[in-house]
Amino acid sequence: MKHELVLVLDFGGQYNQLIARRVRECGVYCEVKPYTTPLAELKAMDPIGIIFTGGPNSVYLDTSPQVDPEIFTWGVPILGICYGCQLMAHTLGGLVTPAQEDTAREYGKTTTYYDTACKLFSGLPAEGISWMSHGDYMAKVPEGFALVGHTEMCPNAAIADEARGFYGVQYHPEVNHTENGVAMIRNFLYEVCHAKGDWTMEDYCRSAIAAIREKVGNGKVLLALSGGVDSSVAAALLAEAVGKQLTCVFVDHGLMRLNEGDEVEAAFAKWDITFIRVDAEDRFLGKLAGVSDPETKRKTIGEEFIRVFEEEAKKIGAVDFLAQGTIYPDVIESGAGDAATIKSHHNVGGLPDFVDFKEIIEPLRMLFKDEVRQLGRELGLPEYLVSRQPFPGPGLAIRIIGDITKEKADTLRLADFIFRDEIAKAGEDKNLNQYFAVLTNTRSVGVMGDGRTYDYTLALRAVTTADFMTADWARIPYDVLDKISVRIVNEVQGINRICYDITSKPPATIEWE
Ligand code: XMP
Repeated sequence: MKHELVLVLDFGGQYNQLIARRVRECGVYCEVKPYTTPLAELKAMDPIGIIFTGGPNSVYLDTSPQVDPEIFTWGVPILGICYGCQLMAHTLGGLVTPAQEDTAREYGKTTTYYDTACKLFSGLPAEGISWMSHGDYMAKVPEGFALVGHTEMCPNAAIADEARGFYGVQYHPEVNHTENGVAMIRNFLYEVCHAKGDWTMEDYCRSAIAAIREKVGNGKVLLALSGGVDSSVAAALLAEAVGKQLTCVFVDHGLMRLNEGDEVEAAFAKWDITFIRVDAEDRFLGKLAGVSDPETKRKTIGEEFIRVFEEEAKKIGAVDFLAQGTIYPDVIESGAGDAATIKSHHNVGGLPDFVDFKEIIEPLRMLFKDEVRQLGRELGLPEYLVSRQPFPGPGLAIRIIGDITKEKADTLRLADFIFRDEIAKAGEDKNLNQYFAVLTNTRSVGVMGDGRTYDYTLALRAVTTADFMTADWARIPYDVLDKISVRIVNEVQGINRICYDITSKPPATIEWE
């Protein structure tokens, strides 16, 4: 089934992916394309509308990104955001200049007044906060355009040529700070582009399964399952589509959280696929013995992972497809919409070099993370897999400071489980983006019963973050921390002291290694 499509033309703005997500949230499929994409290629995709993103440049400079002016005679509706708005004005005969300090250079939250007779603002309040970020000013709007939004400083915060279906806004409707911003995008899609809204996860799931069946035919598919959200959902989708033709290899390196390996295996029991779980704990711990440098730990685990997988792949022999759980943010990177910045991302580094296959298949490459989770639910994967917090590939190895032993891994596993259990019981999990325990290599003196102890210190880490690039330490209530602390020192042998990590990122990182 072909979905109706909206294209986001990327001029290097920082919110290009967010715009695409907003469009999809409104029920319309959307893809981001670099502004350099030839017009013929855009036309061949047959979109119902186009959105120009913002960007860091000034349109009046010769070196700034431009569009083929023919895009404006094609007859497809266009919404220009920030730079995209100025580009439309500039190309269609308006005048864009640097704003003067006292006129219309605006940054941040700005009260904006809208003309609700305009389709873009139809049914919405006539006044609201919008998020501005522009240093340029439309001194003259092009012929045919009306002013449909203004602020105290700026007479043309929004412009429209409704006859041609062209709309431009100086602010960013896609960000949360803009009141009713998503409703404005929705109006563009439904009132201007006449979208039907055929992008639902149920539909997507059905058509993705059909597409995989057609592509794979009678072929054999091999997938390396890590137990993370992306590879699990990719596996479930393929299992649903081609069943027995799918082989999943799940390498259990013995450094996962409590019960995790069994949970992953259990989640796939309902499909008739070949599921190979390789219990490689001894191998990995053997290789890691005496290693305490964080980078060496990572490298050792990465190399051993490839070796184990290679051995399994040899047993399986030639396959037609190697499946990977690559998702959309891995495929397209922000940047000045330059095709060169698009990279192919391999989830399991270097794996393709060791497998005898004809083609790579990446069934999630059009989905955002939250859509991947939604698809996982649609496919009946359990919530503990679908809403899983990020977990590093090297697992607990980088949460045990210093050298790693099985005993330490077991100690940390139990302490980490109690931490997560109490967080869930207190209902705090919904406030946290990532939380885990770290076994330090510091030992200190304690007293238990009548005896002296000399045991390890455990650190608890919990953060709130939107993107994991920056993060703040979470303000977990003291009484919850207290319960966690009491339970861990009582139930876990070898730990007699617990600290809570109160550093943000930066300067600290989320993980300790
Ligand atoms: P840091 O510690 O750099 O972590 O603040 C940011 C996010 O990345 C995760 N992380 C990893 N994920 N392999 C992974 O797949 C790794 O080696 C790795 N190291 C860190 C970390 O859990 C956090 O969510």
